[in-house]
Amino acid sequence: MRLTLRIWRQATAEAQGKLVEYRLDDVSEDQSFLEMLDLLNQHLIDRGEEPVTFDHDCREGICGTCGLVINGIAHGPKAAITTCQLHMRVFKDGDTITVEPWRSKAFPIIKDLMVDRGAFDRIIAAGGYISVNTGAAADANAIPVAKEEADRSMDAAACIGCGACVAACPNSSAMLFTSAKLAHLNSLPQGQAERRDRSILMIEQMDREGFGGCTNYGECEAVCPKEISMDFIAAMNRDLLASQLSNKGKR
Ligand code: SF4
Ligand code: FES
Repeated sequence: MRLTLRIWRQATAEAQGKLVEYRLDDVSEDQSFLEMLDLLNQHLIDRGEEPVTFDHDCREGICGTCGLVINGIAHGPKAAITTCQLHMRVFKDGDTITVEPWRSKAFPIIKDLMVDRGAFDRIIAAGGYISVNTGAAADANAIPVAKEEADRSMDAAACIGCGACVAACPNSSAMLFTSAKLAHLNSLPQGQAERRDRSILMIEQMDREGFGGCTNYGECEAVCPKEISMDFIAAMNRDLLASQLSNKGKR
């Protein structure tokens, strides 16, 4: 395949960025999108030019590290997959493909296509855990969990923290991510002791990081590689209200 790539190049966080055009004429349709970028980088290195910086790790759709806006869509044109799972057969010979980083003030660009998603880590650190006494592992059946709650928790736990929801949202809202992380723990008996504080602390941290609020565009759900449902956002709002009214909360 022959492709024209328009790639966001930005030398440092403070530098002015711009789209730079590259031509590739040896792309295989069996390559993944990241392998295509590897190929471009090999050509750039061979020519003595600076390779394109981009995030990746597992390349199996598990870790949430990769994330590119491809032709204006977070994670590209195929639904329910990450950038690393996208294959070049989705594109046509002769296509022009524009590749940009996540764009959100809360995810500052580090270099080229790489952004700092530390804001997500700080939201998790604010309350995305349970406190338990250490010692021998409890018997797996010691705390019965209803099937419906276990399924709901597992659905929420599928969030890999990639940040596509933020990149796609016109408000740069992180509510899909935060609501999934809350629902993961708040749905289980083990998560109840800290539920009220957790809900308030994580939502407060989300606001402090500069993410916008949800106004129901639905772009987050549309691009989420793990098909996290916006129903979790509604549940988060109910949890916040209940937590604020509860004397166990911080407010
Ligand atoms: S909710 Fe979906 S899009 Fe957002 S961080 Fe989690 S997996 Fe990524
Ligand atoms: S590199 Fe891990 S999900 Fe894409």
